[in-house]
Amino acid sequence: IHNEIFEDSNYASVLVAHEIAELIKEKQQEGKPCVLGLATGSSPIKVYEELVNLHKKGELSFHNVITFNLDEYYPMEPENRQSYYYFMHQHLFDHVDINPENINIPSGEISQEELDQYCIDYDLKIKQLGGLDFQLLGIGRTGHIGFNEPGSHKNSGTRIITLDHVTRRDAASDFNGIEYVPKKAITMGVSTIMKAKRIIMLAWGHKKSAVVKETIEGQVTATIPATFLQNHDNVTMILDAEAASDLT
Ligand code: F6R
Repeated sequence: IHNEIFEDSNYASVLVAHEIAELIKEKQQEGKPCVLGLATGSSPIKVYEELVNLHKKGELSFHNVITFNLDEYYPMEPENRQSYYYFMHQHLFDHVDINPENINIPSGEISQEELDQYCIDYDLKIKQLGGLDFQLLGIGRTGHIGFNEPGSHKNSGTRIITLDHVTRRDAASDFNGIEYVPKKAITMGVSTIMKAKRIIMLAWGHKKSAVVKETIEGQVTATIPATFLQNHDNVTMILDAEAASDLT
């Protein structure tokens, strides 16, 4: 894993947005779709802000962009302010010219009976488009990527998972109490993520320093699913000084 450390996470986010913008434009010139895997949470907010800026300045169109979000709580209604559907529209999709049909976010409303097939189809759709050209990731304190919590298998595909207690505690403030945080989520699998051609992971702040160290310097283990990224040949971790503070 290649890593880059920045004093200022806002500046780092702008650089990441520019890499994504360049990729989108490159694909436009080739007359091809650009397939992006996207994350929610606090880490990527400034990246989306800069992508929206570029669009508003007339420098970037999303007409060829197809997106797949990593995850969604389950069960969850899209209108709910805590949904990742809501987050993505609020921070990105409502402000750019993406075709709504090109937006894919796991549905927190799918019925139990349909769920297995739904998840298989999510991965199949990515595959049929030629895979993810780019995947943006955050990292949870459990070492999760997407919501692949400790114990997730390296060959796992998109599926329903049980959220770790630590993850639910970290989400408690968004939900006004841990008891309101859903117990489950749908997440892209480790293997879905690992097939992306390019991966950028963002980690900001002290709270991430221990898991960042494990991810970069630790043994590859399902106990910290982010360590699987060590086996990918095109991953960059973008860190601020606090997140990097435990690295040797
Ligand atoms: C979000 C996701 C999660 C977050 C992680 C970090 O779609 O898949 O893995 O990236 O929990 O969250 P923040 O950025 O809020 O610290």
